[in-house]
Amino acid sequence: MKRVLLIDDEIDMLNSFQKILSHYEDFKISSVYDPNEALEILKKEKFDLVITDLKMKEVTGLDILKFIKKSSPETEVLMISGYGTIEASVEAMKEGAFDFLEKPFTSKKLFESIDRIFYESQSRTGSEEDSDEKVVEGIIYKSDKMQQIIDLINKVASRKMSVLITGESGTGKELIARAIHKLSKSSLDPFVPVNCGALPEHLFESELFGHERGAFTGAVKTKPGLLEFANNGTFFFDEIGDMSQALQVKLLRMLQEKKIRRVGGQKEIEIDVRIIAATNKNLETAVEEKKFRKDLFYRLNAIQIEIPPLKDRIEDVIPLSKHFMKELCNRDDRPPRQFSEDAMKALLSYSWPGNVRELQNMVERAYFLSSSNIIHESDIPLANTKSSSRLEEQMMHLSYKDARDKLLERFEVEYLTYYLKKNDGNVTRTAEDCGLDRRSIHRLINKYNIIYQE
Ligand SMILES: Nc1ncnc2c1ncn2[C@@H]1O[C@H](COP(=O)(O)OP(=O)(O)OP(=O)(O)O)[C@@H](O)[C@H]1O
Ligand SMILES: [Mg+2]
Repeated sequence: MKRVLLIDDEIDMLNSFQKILSHYEDFKISSVYDPNEALEILKKEKFDLVITDLKMKEVTGLDILKFIKKSSPETEVLMISGYGTIEASVEAMKEGAFDFLEKPFTSKKLFESIDRIFYESQSRTGSEEDSDEKVVEGIIYKSDKMQQIIDLINKVASRKMSVLITGESGTGKELIARAIHKLSKSSLDPFVPVNCGALPEHLFESELFGHERGAFTGAVKTKPGLLEFANNGTFFFDEIGDMSQALQVKLLRMLQEKKIRRVGGQKEIEIDVRIIAATNKNLETAVEEKKFRKDLFYRLNAIQIEIPPLKDRIEDVIPLSKHFMKELCNRDDRPPRQFSEDAMKALLSYSWPGNVRELQNMVERAYFLSSSNIIHESDIPLANTKSSSRLEEQMMHLSYKDARDKLLERFEVEYLTYYLKKNDGNVTRTAEDCGLDRRSIHRLINKYNIIYQE
């Protein structure tokens, strides 16, 4: 039995809620229309769920929420708000309301929200403990494929061999390079990343190797290069495929002789760095096309680590999403947010062409766009486009009649709630806007059990 308390200072609302909630056989429902009395009841009795209106005279839904979260924090609160009260709703979420529903909404929406409250609070305690996501040097993963990569980097980290990391953009190549460095014996020495495509060739050369005074116009002082700076540490060549042929020769010489010469200099400087290179291009093809030196390729490729695209290690999607969301909430000192079941399904069915970076951006946008403690499918900006096509795919498995009814329901509910909201629940004006009579509007409201307020 779940104990549920309904609070709304409008008797009509209270009655319709009570009727709708009779759907749940295991609910023991109490209802009260005087919020002061509600506080008295809450002092004496414990509830699993309190559904309260936000805007009431004297005592508001927020006061009730705060009281509950102080006296009985495990009681979940579902806040119902009227029209255009977004700010207050946001505050409600901050104060710990589990969810809020803004009028007008259908009884179906209400059921979804309640199901989520009881489902999520169960899964929250369950999943946190038995979740087997792993973290190694900031790398979040769960898939066997990533486990193999982690095992590999643990092995290569202690040996000073060159590593070539390949993988699509955003798969985490730089993160892996840093992890190898941190797990190595030279973790306290520098890790120096450079992007091989970022600078014109002559500048890049003097950046890498340094230059002597007067080596070229503008070289007013002798300057050691980044490779010298990285001595004993790790040098990370990002986008190695973009390196010019001339520099490829110089890099190869450095790898063979473990010495470099500054631009315009004679002296040879001993250098001992581990080279990690990364590319999202196919270097083998570049070698075949003579754009990349074969001998350098084999030097760099002592160990190759290929990071699979995110869609090929789908088990990592949920742990990563949860991790990024947790980071944002912690950063802003906000209560944790969960992904709803359908949101998780949407995340899992997306193909992630931009890999982990795209996922990270998506979570960030969802975090800003949604003010609810539950991230729903509709809050996920990317998976959205995909999910609407999924709906059409689903339709194809239905009979003609069922598919049509489903689409019609979606249309009627969205259309009607849009105009009810626009007109603050006024049926007469909604009817005018829609070009229907009031009776038809009421018929639709009843058909879908739309909860609204005039
Ligand atoms: N397994 C992971 N766990 C946590 N964060 C990750 C993971 N993989 C990638 N990231 C994050 O995703 C973002 C992109 O990763 P990174 O820059 O390492 O990718 P990349 O392969 O170098 O991409 P590009 O080819 O576009 O340079 C970074 O913010 C990184 O921290
Ligand atoms: Mg990168």
